[in-house]
Amino acid sequence: MAEILPVEPFDLIIFGGTGDLSMRKLLPALFNRDRDQQFSPDSRIVAVSRAELDPDAFLKQVLDSLKEHNAYQKGDAEVWKRFAKRLLYVRLDGTKPDGWEPIADLFTQQAEKIRVFYLATSPGIYGPICQMLAQKGLVNRHGRVVLEKPIGHDLVSAEQINLEVGRVFQEDQVYRIDHYLGKESVQNLITLRFGNSLFEPLWRSGYIDHVQITVAESIGVGSRGDYYDKMGALRDMVQNHILQMLCLVAMEPPISLDQDIIRGEKIKVLRALRPIGVDEVKAKTVIGQYTEGVIGGSAVPGYESELKRKSPTETFVAIKAEIDNWRWANVPFYLRTGKRLPDRYSEIVIQFSPVKHSIFKPHMGELLPNTLNIRLQPNDGVTLSMMTKEPGPGGLRIRSMPLNLTFADAFERYYNNAYERLLMEVVRGNPALFMRRDEVETAWSWIDQIIGAWQATNTKPQPYMAGSWGPSRSALLMDRDHRAWHESQGW
Ligand code: BG6
Repeated sequence: MAEILPVEPFDLIIFGGTGDLSMRKLLPALFNRDRDQQFSPDSRIVAVSRAELDPDAFLKQVLDSLKEHNAYQKGDAEVWKRFAKRLLYVRLDGTKPDGWEPIADLFTQQAEKIRVFYLATSPGIYGPICQMLAQKGLVNRHGRVVLEKPIGHDLVSAEQINLEVGRVFQEDQVYRIDHYLGKESVQNLITLRFGNSLFEPLWRSGYIDHVQITVAESIGVGSRGDYYDKMGALRDMVQNHILQMLCLVAMEPPISLDQDIIRGEKIKVLRALRPIGVDEVKAKTVIGQYTEGVIGGSAVPGYESELKRKSPTETFVAIKAEIDNWRWANVPFYLRTGKRLPDRYSEIVIQFSPVKHSIFKPHMGELLPNTLNIRLQPNDGVTLSMMTKEPGPGGLRIRSMPLNLTFADAFERYYNNAYERLLMEVVRGNPALFMRRDEVETAWSWIDQIIGAWQATNTKPQPYMAGSWGPSRSALLMDRDHRAWHESQGW
């Protein structure tokens, strides 16, 4: 088993430090890394927010949250003692000039230490916070800023944020996080494609029939309604997570793992995405909004009841995307995501072309195309389905069978919190797993055009019952091409 290497001493300042992301994801991820002793004794974590909280109340809030999110486990008392010692709470409005002394003091003690500023706030204040950091002289040459998604809500707002942040930080100091890039299976895509000679010759038009990327969630919008209602499924999930996965599936083989080499290949894919304009938007996209229904045996409310108002926002989107280059000519990428679908299930399916000439008779069984299923969740892993002879006498019978690798079974050590990996990459100074400015902006251009086409054609979300796989038009989108969505196979 590979050794877990400690990271250099750092100070991590989290703006929005008592918010949902910090409590639910960031602090549990850091706690887990501290358990593995990856941090030096002088590494510190500072939570910044405007809330009035005394140090004890803050520590209690963190501990409760670590317990609630299963980071704190039995026997972790010593780890907690160590972790609590490095935690500090600072009450501060990051957009205002007052109250920065505790942070400045912290830095003067160790001027050359790595400084990570994590902006887990609303993107509208990323620029002003960076400006204050500069004004207060807090950005040293080891300074890094992490920007949570969404980077804006369209191309213009994203450009503005990137411009303002860019006035303070160089591009190689900016880490635009997409937590899907930290997921085990998404990272494994690179190893799968470029660590095996098996797939590369077949990874192209002529051998692959089509690709499907599904990110299904059974949860609704819950307490995030106000944020979500401004975004919708296309901006919330496709602009970032799904397009990033599409890039990793579709990019050309990079010459190395170097950060800008991989990102350079990804941007070529984004630039080759065929625009979807007014003439095609109805044929190539489907949007929906969930109504009340049943999931896992429990009744759940519809989107508008959760939101407590009427809304035109889509909670489901399916798209037929095409990539205009030599490798992917005539190979559609079907993308789909939604809330209140039957399961939490995310998967990339590479469906290979059908056998060119069948020698089998229909009574022997159905000849199904090979598929490579890359599962993100649950049960991260990879399954390759192959046609096999059913053993036994009584004539030849054929059947599709899976070759299955589930990471949690196959590997002794296994992390499923993507933030653990990504936070350590920030401290190590490796931006390869983060989105570069041009990637974010190019992705927005493609998305903006779809939104513009929906508006121009007055396309409205179709209702779908919570617990179903989205509006019926989603199945039709595939059916028209004589294809079907792969629903969760329950591997
Ligand atoms: C976030 C979206 O980026 O990803 C959420 O804003 C979504 O709406 C979440 O629920 C899904 O992440 P995961 O890791 O649970 O699949």
